[in-house]
This record gives sequence, structure tokens and C-alpha cells, in this order.
Amino acid sequence: MSQNFPSVDKPALKNDRYLRALLKQPVDVTPVWMMRQAGRYLPEYKATRAVAGDFMSLCKNAELACEVTLQPLRRFPLDAAILFSDILTIPDAMGLGLYFETGEGPRFKNPITCKADVDKIGLPDPEGELQYVMNAVRTIRRELKGEVPLIGFSGSPWTLATYMIEGGSSKAFTKIKKMAFAEPAILHALLEKLADSVTEYLNAQIAAGAQSVMVFDTWGGVLSPRDYKEFSLQYMERIVSGLTRENEGRKVPVTLFTKNGGMWLESIAATGCDAVGLDWTIDIKEARARIGDKVALQGNMDPSMLYAQPQRIEQEVATILEGYGEGSGHVFNLGHGIHLDVPPENAGVFVDAVHKFSKQYHK
Ligand code: CP3
Repeated sequence: MSQNFPSVDKPALKNDRYLRALLKQPVDVTPVWMMRQAGRYLPEYKATRAVAGDFMSLCKNAELACEVTLQPLRRFPLDAAILFSDILTIPDAMGLGLYFETGEGPRFKNPITCKADVDKIGLPDPEGELQYVMNAVRTIRRELKGEVPLIGFSGSPWTLATYMIEGGSSKAFTKIKKMAFAEPAILHALLEKLADSVTEYLNAQIAAGAQSVMVFDTWGGVLSPRDYKEFSLQYMERIVSGLTRENEGRKVPVTLFTKNGGMWLESIAATGCDAVGLDWTIDIKEARARIGDKVALQGNMDPSMLYAQPQRIEQEVATILEGYGEGSGHVFNLGHGIHLDVPPENAGVFVDAVHKFSKQYHK
């Protein structure tokens, strides 16, 4: 069957604003989605999660992963869906033994400590150990019925390596930085394997039906400018070069997001990505002046603004829209994931405000 014709499994898109904005093509209003839009701030998510048991069982069940992906779209007129999964699926498939300690975040039973640990890691097969992710992509894509595009994602090699070497979440990143500065060859060997694995993983998500992909570099911003290039950006650039950029007769846009990466926008834009994700620590007007001729921008409201009154949320949305200004090339989002104790109604105020106030910038 040709890949280029819509089918029951991969129906044609009804709302393509998100894909168009990433490619800086004209849109009627600014598209919007929220990082972590499926999650614990929604009571229906908690209910489905309780049925699945633990978080990874939810990720591994294609029907339930599809259900939680669709939940925020039933509440809010979002312009994109994001695969329900986690960035830590790759290290888990590499044999590190991912588990979640209640209230503690992710942990690994077998963290990476030395060269031998890196040497024994193999590249997971996206249609083998990680097939559950591809099954979720296929199921979600079918069930979206072409309403909005589906975003696939992965962690950046550096961000994945922080969890693999620290053994879980970290504040000071001393173990991985010790390796970076005392034994750089070992870390580079790991980052190379991760870059190859992420490339294969994202290409498999695209083949399975993801219409755009995003790389989360949550921890690139803890590095110096030199070390960011050496240990994070270099590997993201390799991934961008290795990705399938067209599928089903359409461009597959790539977004890179480095949290706290506002200092390095020009270098990120120079990787060949289509869009750069912004956290809230940079003014979007400045970001557009610096790289807006090269790439689209995604962001950048402080997620904590969703604790404010509706009027304050609307005011902030209007300010950010005005900061970006006229024309396409902006995908509205939060600067990081939505907090788990945000009232869902406030997320609704946010999404509606983006559509309502952005019309004037797209004439
Ligand atoms: O955006 C979405 O709705 C898609 C789903 C998604 C999850 N994780 C689900 C999840 C995405 C895109 C991620 C990415 C992710 N995971 C990142 C990069 C983005 C970021 O937030 O910086 C990182 C660093 C992780 C690692 C991770 N996974 C952590 C630190 C945690 C614990 C945090 C927490 O909120 O408890 C997870 C677990 C996780 N991933 C949850 C969800 C919904 C919570 C699990 C639960 O239901 O208890």
C-alpha cells in the first residue's frame, strides 16, 4: 500500500495549523499545545492510570496510552496530540531497569558507572523491545481520525545520559560531570550509542505515524557553553541529520528544546531543525529577532502562570503573542510541563486565549 494516500489507519489531517506553523506557512490562528498535556492534573488521567497500575504499564498498553493521549483533546481545542510515553523508554530497553518510586521520580536498577557498562549496551530495536511505543503511535494515529497531528518524541542523548549515570533525577549532576571532565571518552561512547538509538527510535515513530518529532533536552542548560556544544548539541545535530524529514507526502518538522538554552539559540537553530522550543526565561521577541528568520519558535509561557486568575492568564497570552508579532512561525506552548496541581479549567482559559487573541496577527 502506498504511504502517500490517506488510509483508515492514517487518515488525512483536518487541522494542520501546528505543522504549518512549524514550517512558517500561513495559518488562521496561532496553534497551541501543552507540554505534559496528558497527566496527573486531569482526574480522568488518574482514573486510567489506576486501571493500568504503574506508569510503565500504562505506557506499555497501547489502548490505555491512546486513551490518555486523547483525554486532553476532549477537554480543550488543542492543535496537536503528543504520544503518551516517556523519554526513559530507551535506557529501559538498554537494560538499565527503569522503575518509579512514589514521589521520587524515575530510578534505574543498573546505572552506568564505567566503560564496561557502556560497552555492553546494545541499540534497542524500535520494533522489538520498543515495539510497545510504536504500537501506541499506530493506535493513537488511527484513533485521532485526522483531527490533529501526532507528535512523537525522545530525550536528547545528554538528558538521557544524566538519568542513566546519576541513576535517576539529580540536582547537581556530579556523577555525569565527573565522567564528562575526568573520563570524556567513556561519556562520548555512551552519547554516540544514544544518538544512534534516538535516531532509529524517532524514525520508527515517524514510520509508525508520528507527523512531527520533538527532542527534549531538559538538562542541556546545566552545562557551560563549551560543554553544551560538546556533550549535548553535537549529538542533537547528528540526530537531526539522520531523521526522515518527509513522510506520507508531507514534511515532518523537527523541534529541539533545551531548557535554559536561551543563551544558545543561534547554535540550536544552526543544527538544521525546523523549530526551537523556548522556556520562559527568554523574551520571545528577542528570540524571534535572533533566530526567527531561520526557524519557527515554540513556547513560552511560564507553566506556573496557570495558577493565576483567568484574566491574568489571558493577559500573559496576549503579551507573548504581541512579543512574537505578525505572521506564522509560532507554536504557542508552556515553557515546560504543566504542573500536576493546576486546575484544568485554567488550561482551558489558556488554550482559548491563544486562539482568540492571535487572529489579529494572521491576516
Ligand atoms: O507531554 C505529554 O503529555 C506526553 C508524555 C510525557 C511524559 N514524559 C509522561 C510522564 C513526556 C513528553 C515526557 C517526557 C519526559 N520524561 C521528560 C522531558 C520533558 C520534561 O518534562 O522535561 C523527562 C525529563 C522525563 C523523565 C520523567 N518521567 C520524570 C522526571 C518523571 C517523574 C516526574 C513526575 O511528574 O512524577 C517521569 C514520569 C512521567 N512521565 C509521568 C508522566 C505523565 C508521571 C507518571 C505518573 O503518572 O505518576
